[in-house]
Amino acid sequence: MEVVIVPDAESGGDLIAEAMARLLRQKPDALLGVATGSTPLPVYRALSARVRAGGADTSRARVAQLDEYVGLPAEHPESYRSVLRREVLEPLGIPMERFLGPDGAAEDVQAACEDYDRALATAGGVDLQLLGIGTDGHIGFNEPCSSLASRTRIKTLTEQTRVDNARFFEGDIEQVPHHVITQGIGTILEARHLVLLATGEGKADAVAATVEGPVAAVCPASALQLHPHATVVVDEGAASRLKLADYFRHTYAHKPHWQGL
Ligand code: PGA
Repeated sequence: MEVVIVPDAESGGDLIAEAMARLLRQKPDALLGVATGSTPLPVYRALSARVRAGGADTSRARVAQLDEYVGLPAEHPESYRSVLRREVLEPLGIPMERFLGPDGAAEDVQAACEDYDRALATAGGVDLQLLGIGTDGHIGFNEPCSSLASRTRIKTLTEQTRVDNARFFEGDIEQVPHHVITQGIGTILEARHLVLLATGEGKADAVAATVEGPVAAVCPASALQLHPHATVVVDEGAASRLKLADYFRHTYAHKPHWQGL
């Protein structure tokens, strides 16, 4: 995998937005896999700034969701569908007709999961999947010890993840659902390019385990080591436990500029 160390979250967002803009130049109807959480916001800001300035064309772009709470109606302000509509689709001018996501309110959750995996395949697969990482190494909502071959399915959130996400529910953990639908690790690995962004020292241990640890289900993000095109973009804080940080800096500094991410 390629590790790119950037000075701060904004430069990470800028770099990834440029990779997305470049992809859209090559493939205008690319399917962009997007993530929720605080970390990806600089990417969406940088990409929408490019769209406004004419530097990126999202007029045919498609967007796919990574995970969703179970039991929240789609119109709930904190359903990930609503969050993505506010933070990604509207700023990028992408209508809901070009959005793919699982139905978190479905009565038959298992069928909703299978339907979503099928919908992703029918759409031709995700071209670039943006990922955040949990402090416990989760990607999507694949908590530690998720099967590395897993498909989209229901998962139970750890208490820590519910505590972390209570900030989106007026600080009230009781309002945070226990269950989610998440693309499985096997599903995520089918995207053509995986781009994980991590910022802040709180992610440093998870990043070190992802990049330099063994491939192990206890750190779900370590599955990126199995992918032929995985890019990990980290700020100085998130890079602070990487033993090979100097090597990663050297390699990136000498990368042929035409190559992109
Ligand atoms: P965060 O969440 O970006 O809000 O830290 C990341 C994640 O849990 O995947």
